Amino acid sequence: MRETSDQACQLRLRDGVIKVQDLRIKKSSSLKDLPFFDPKAELGFGTHFTDHMFFCRYSESKGWHDAEIGPYGSLQLDPAASVLHYGQSLFEGMKAFRRGDGSIWLFRPQFNWERMCKGAQRLTLPEPSQEVYIEGLKKLLEIDQRWVPPLLGTSLYIRPTLIGSEAFLGLRPAKEAFFFIILSPVGFYYAEGNKLVKIWVEAKDVRASEGGLGSVKAGANYAASLRASMIAKKRGYSQVLWLDSKHEGIEEVGTMNVFFVFDDEIVTPNLNGSILPGGVRDSVLQLLRNSGLAQGRMVSERRITIQELTERQAKGELREAFGTGTAAVISPIGEICGEHQSFVISHESGPVSTSLLETLQGIQWGSLKDDFGWMCPLEEL
Ligand code: COI
Repeated sequence: MRETSDQACQLRLRDGVIKVQDLRIKKSSSLKDLPFFDPKAELGFGTHFTDHMFFCRYSESKGWHDAEIGPYGSLQLDPAASVLHYGQSLFEGMKAFRRGDGSIWLFRPQFNWERMCKGAQRLTLPEPSQEVYIEGLKKLLEIDQRWVPPLLGTSLYIRPTLIGSEAFLGLRPAKEAFFFIILSPVGFYYAEGNKLVKIWVEAKDVRASEGGLGSVKAGANYAASLRASMIAKKRGYSQVLWLDSKHEGIEEVGTMNVFFVFDDEIVTPNLNGSILPGGVRDSVLQLLRNSGLAQGRMVSERRITIQELTERQAKGELREAFGTGTAAVISPIGEICGEHQSFVISHESGPVSTSLLETLQGIQWGSLKDDFGWMCPLEEL
């Protein structure tokens, strides 16, 4: 089996002497009721939070220090903190899964740590060390492990977050930062569940442009996306198709990377500097290229314009479209509408997106072999 970067990193973690020094643990005195044992309860996305959180401070003089796991609760932040004024804020989205035998597994944890470090460089925030990020996550998951839900289709969503916390109003990188991790048991991201979503082609707002923040998981990218998403929702669409700043090249869909399945080719926009390098995007590309799921089609990472998509759809070549992301996993697109186009792609999830979802979920829940070394058991984190 090939050694992927995920595997190499997991080995480093196992061998290493990685321990958060002096991690303080203060357990909550009143544990919450778990929200997922009532069969009628819909977990939804991001509404329940676990009993504890991990928190660590950074300062130029001390580096990362005061690591602590304590009861989930409010942060104490100075009103002059740079995150509140200049948006120095970055986050990650990860998932942990509970398998049939009760064991807990994480999907590509190293990928997310590395991506947060790249994002920190772009936003001039201190990179959380591997020790702080991974060991903090491991200890937190050990303490809150009863919160990893057992049902297929559910998981524990992990939200590591890095913010500039220094109280200083001059514009320069913050010399102090907070890194924290919160956990939320989740079901489906979209209210539609795993049904097909309707997408609006956004012709005015752009989510990000080359040279900006689009390729890192900055909170600001999500703020930039809200107005168009709200307008699309009012029109009856779940999400928007984001185009580049010339309103030509397709970039992303909603909060996800996007894939189009044509008769002879599967295309996803290339990482041009304004597109987020998604972990599920990368995994889908590896699956398509290495496991026959592309069903003989060429797999391309290249620029694709809305004009090309519309023309190829009109010629009958477009078979499927879907979004990929940690939260939504694989989200098939049923319909695309905009000022210059309106077409139905499919009324049901197509064979490529269906088999990708089944394969990814099979790897995550352990019913399929993990040939890529993506899954990491909690005890080996
Ligand atoms: C994720 O898929 O993890 C995301 O970050 C999207 C978020 C808006 C829920």
